[in-house]
Amino acid sequence: MPDGLLPSRAIGWGIAGYGWVARDYAAPAILAAGHAVRTVCDPVPAARDAARRAHAGAAVQDDLAPLLADPAVDAVYVATPNHLHRAAVEACAAAGKAVLCEKPMAATLEDAEAMAAAVARAGILYGTAFDQRHHPAHAAMRDAIAAGLIGTPTVIRIAYACWLGPDWSVTGEGDNWRADPRRAGGGALMDLAPHGLDLCAFLLGEPVEEIAALTQRRVQPYAVDDGAALIGRTAGGALVQLHVAYNCPDALPRRRLEVLGSAGQLVAENTMGQEPGGLVTHTDASGASRPLPVADMASSPFARQMAAFARALSTGDRETFSAARDLHTMRLLHAAYAGDPACR
Ligand SMILES: NC(=O)c1ccc[n+]([C@@H]2O[C@H](COP(=O)([O-])OP(=O)(O)OC[C@H]3O[C@@H](n4cnc5c(N)ncnc54)[C@H](O)[C@@H]3O)[C@@H](O)[C@H]2O)c1
Repeated sequence: MPDGLLPSRAIGWGIAGYGWVARDYAAPAILAAGHAVRTVCDPVPAARDAARRAHAGAAVQDDLAPLLADPAVDAVYVATPNHLHRAAVEACAAAGKAVLCEKPMAATLEDAEAMAAAVARAGILYGTAFDQRHHPAHAAMRDAIAAGLIGTPTVIRIAYACWLGPDWSVTGEGDNWRADPRRAGGGALMDLAPHGLDLCAFLLGEPVEEIAALTQRRVQPYAVDDGAALIGRTAGGALVQLHVAYNCPDALPRRRLEVLGSAGQLVAENTMGQEPGGLVTHTDASGASRPLPVADMASSPFARQMAAFARALSTGDRETFSAARDLHTMRLLHAAYAGDPACR
């Protein structure tokens, strides 16, 4: 049985922030993993109504305190706008609840440092919700790279882009906090590059250590970057190259992940994102191409993530999810912005 499908103890979840990602991906994934949604907290009445419709029997409130006091809640999934991650995670840590917090870890490096410190003080399990680590295609690529299928990996190239106009909203509730520097902490770079940087570390088994970036505000009429190009290097010398954007029409090809090595190449198309599926092609050094076999390609990265978190909670594993690793990614994002003359 592939790792991602191993059974996990049926834990009880609290959800802080029942907007787009919680409603459409994380809450269904909790149920698909065989777990339960016990308590939901959101200040917006329409979000609470949606939670009541989807989770009969769950306590639904506008305040975090009852969720923290609920003994049936083993872990809390935090999916508020970025600037509110810190307060929620600190409160969960103080209450001794395990936390799976959406990416980016926080809107600022200062917040992320405070969160990592709170988590360490409390000794709780903390993970940033990098669901793309749990996509079956990415797990198969990691295993193939580790087994030497493409020789020495030399470079990862990622294109991960979408269209995010000034009034963008999936749920139709609230304004577009992603276009607000204070609440989002940045634009396309802050929102989309964390996935790519974390995925590079996952695929290669070593973190990106050095980073540089140039951002643009070219198409969208808001105050955060609508595109960015990043280059980086891992401790072992592999290069990474990312293009992230909010200014790319969704109908264009815009989700591509390539890993080039000294003896071959892996190309994943349409695997990055919230959904299962996509295609991975292996090309060997002679130029012959074939699909990379991927076990359980149709299973949801979010459901596998929830199952993995429950297993880590049961076993005491502190490597599959790691606040220290996620804080390192926040340092990279901070350095990427700080090094761009356009952002000084
Ligand atoms: N992993 C992914 O692929 C992915 C996809 C989308 C969003 N995200 C991340 O998830 C988070 C939420 O994004 P979204 O698109 O769902 O946003 P959203 O605006 O749709 O939802 C956020 C929800 O948080 C609620 N909220 C606001 N203040 C709150 C508080 N103090 N306590 C509890 N709830 C509060 C809002 O009312 C809203 O319902 C962000 O950090 C985002 O970066 C991750």
